[in-house]
This record gives sequence, structure tokens and C-alpha cells, in this order.
Amino acid sequence: MQDNRIRLHFSIAIFLLFIIPLCSVSAAPDGARLFAMNCAACHGDRGNGGIGIPLSLPDFLGSVTDEFLFQTIRHGRPGRIMPSFRHLSNEQIDAIVSYIRNLTPVKVNLLPEGATGDPEKGRDVFARKCARCHGPLGKGGAGTGVNFTRLHNLPIVAPGLNNPGFLAAASDRIIRTTLLRGRSKTPMLPAAKMGLTIQDVDDVVSYIRSFEKGFQQSKNSATRSIEPTLLTSSKLPFDATVEKIKRAISAQRLRIIRSHSLDDGLVPQGSENKKRQVIFFGNLHQINTLLAIDPRMGLFLPNRITIMEQSDGKVLVAAVNPLRFGQLFNNANLEYTARELHNTYSTILGEITE
Ligand code: HEC
Ligand code: HEC
Repeated sequence: MQDNRIRLHFSIAIFLLFIIPLCSVSAAPDGARLFAMNCAACHGDRGNGGIGIPLSLPDFLGSVTDEFLFQTIRHGRPGRIMPSFRHLSNEQIDAIVSYIRNLTPVKVNLLPEGATGDPEKGRDVFARKCARCHGPLGKGGAGTGVNFTRLHNLPIVAPGLNNPGFLAAASDRIIRTTLLRGRSKTPMLPAAKMGLTIQDVDDVVSYIRSFEKGFQQSKNSATRSIEPTLLTSSKLPFDATVEKIKRAISAQRLRIIRSHSLDDGLVPQGSENKKRQVIFFGNLHQINTLLAIDPRMGLFLPNRITIMEQSDGKVLVAAVNPLRFGQLFNNANLEYTARELHNTYSTILGEITE
């Protein structure tokens, strides 16, 4: 009798031992964890906003569908700070969406479809009532909202509306609902408070939708991809190239921070390849500017140029192309500084180019 009970307990224990791990393997992805890992740095721990706009406000959550949230996460907002999350699975994104939903449980309540508006009239309404925050062409608020020193009670940066990510995610009903209801606790007022009629709202919705027509054209002209590295072969021998580049860096009033063999620390001391040098340089102001725009720029800072002698004696000089930074990080705000940096690199590399 006693024996049987023990055997029964034993089999239950064995059963659980196998079943529990199986359950946790097949369990849904953990939305809270995924949010903490991918979103909290910008949107705040509980979605209360920061660099990214707040996600927990009732007016926001009541005016957007799960599909909107899903597509926004998947596509991001190209050219804005909001990245796209192409590496997450559908299940992972669904888990994040549920997590956001639970931040503030409110019922999604979209207002009905409006009448077809007149985009030309909408353009006028937009210029008068929206452009000062959302930008003249709806490209989004100026500044970046990405300044870590920005206080939480300062106005939230107005999102880009002339944006493929936004328009792929938002239906006309969502845009209309957002306009009519506004988003209380943010600078986005309800249409009535901005002095808009229902007709104005429908016109401006058609105008915002009309931005989509511009995307195909700009896509075609922007497909020329930017080279990831600036690579040039030097007209000088190795040592002379290193010296010339150092002088060119100083001539740009940039400081050389350090320079050493490329394999320093990777191979035993003394056996480094002396014909592969990397020079680190920059200035503090520029570094701080770039980090403020996007902290991930830290990966590429300080600036560096690599000089390598190949087996055929040719000397190659390489740098990461700064013009790629904006693309890598999906951040149009890096464009200006990246262009400046690109000019600097071009001048320096120009000194030794064949
Ligand atoms: C005073 C500045 C200001 C004005 C004026 C303004 N907005 Fe906004 N708008 C914002 C801000 C800030 C947000 C983001 C609110 C948030 O945090 O949820 C926003 C959000 C939106 C959204 C939602 C975008 C998204 O990504 O979900 C739409 C659509 C929108 N505004 C359209 C308009 C239109 C159309 C007008 C003119 C009729 C207008 N706004 C006027 C500041 C403004
Ligand atoms: C690097 C900062 C950053 C990260 C990381 C980030 N976001 Fe954003 N997000 C933003 C910014 C900034 C905006 C406003 C877009 C604009 O300015 O046009 C935004 C917009 C959004 C919107 C649209 C809000 C609205 O009003 O329509 C949603 C939804 C969103 N983010 C969700 C997420 C989720 C979920 C994650 C993680 C999977 C995430 N974001 C990660 C910065 C970020």
C-alpha cells in the first residue's frame, strides 16, 4: 500500500519533470521582457514616454488598433528615431502589443469613417493648423526629441505624418479619431479646440493620405545605395601614408586620440602586424553631438581610419562611410552631422588618394 503511494508520487514527479519544461518551451514570448529590452530605453519603463512618445495614455490606446501597433513596431518610422523591428517574430511583436495594451486597459473605440475629403483644402488646413508642430510638409516635429537632457514635462515632439511607416500602420479612421479626440496630456489637441470643423477634419485626413503618392517617387530616386565603407588606395608607401593621414587629421583641427596596430591585443605582444594601423580621432563636441542624436553612434566613435599594406605592397585606406549612419539607425537627424563627417573624411583621404 505504502509502496504504491510512493510509486504514484514518484510517477507524478517524473511526469511533472517532463511536462514543465515542455510547457515553458512552448510558452508565448514574454512581452514585458521584450518591451524592456527593445522599447523601454526610449518609451520609458511603463511606456510613459521619454525620447519616444508615451504609449500608455488612454487617448492613444483607445484610438489605435492592435494592427496599428503591430505595423508600427514592424516598420518603424523610416527617417525618424523610431526603429523598425524586422528581426522580431510575429509572435514576439504580438506579445509586445499585449504588453502595451495592459499598460492602461481601455477599450479601443474608433469613431466612424468620415466623408471623402478634399486634399487641396486639407493642405491649406494643414499649413494653418498643423505645420507649426508636425513640420511644413508633415515630416515631423523639428528637434529630435532625442535629447537626453530634455525634461519629461517639456512638449512631446510631434510625430512625422508624411511617413511611410505611419501611413502603412494608420487607417483613415485612426487618423480621424486621433484628430477629433486629440490626445489629452500631450500637445495634440482635439480638432474642435484647434478651431476645425468636421469638414476640415475630413479634408486634412485626405491630405495626409495623399502623402503616400510621394513615397514611390522618392523610393525610386533613393535606391542608389550608399557604399558602407570609404575605401581608397594610397599613392604613398605605408609609413608615409600613416604620417600624411595624421597630418591631414590635425589640419582639420581634429585630435588624434590614439593609433596602434589593428591586431593589438588580439595577437601576442610583439607579433602584431605593423603594416596594419588604425588611427582614432575626433573632437569632443562632435562626439557629444552624435551621441545625443543616437546613443548607438557610440559603436563608431571616435572616428577611425584604418591603413593596411597588402601582400602586393599596395596600401589601402578604409573608413566606415558616415553617410551610412543615418540609414543604419533609421535616423534622418544624423544626416547633417554625417554629411559634415563625410566631408572631413573625404578631405583626409583625398590627401593620399592615387
Ligand atoms: C501644438 C502642437 C501640435 C499641433 C498644432 C498639432 N499636433 Fe498632432 N500631434 C502633436 C503631438 C505632440 C503628437 C503626439 C502625441 C502623443 O504623444 O501621443 C501628435 C499626434 C498626432 C497624430 C498621431 C500620430 C501618430 O504617430 O500616431 C496625428 C495623426 C496628428 N497629430 C495630426 C495632426 C493634425 C492633422 C494637426 C492639425 C489639424 C495636428 N496634429 C496639430 C502635436 C501637435
Ligand atoms: C530609439 C528610440 C526608440 C525605440 C528603441 C523605440 N521607439 Fe517607438 N518611437 C520613438 C519615437 C521618437 C517615436 C515618434 C515617431 C516620430 O517622431 O515620428 C516613436 C513612435 C512609436 C509609436 C507610435 C506612437 C503613436 O503615437 O503613433 C509606437 C506605437 C511605438 N513607437 C512603439 C514602440 C515599441 C513597441 C518599441 C519597441 C519594440 C519602440 N517603439 C522602440 C522612439 C523609439
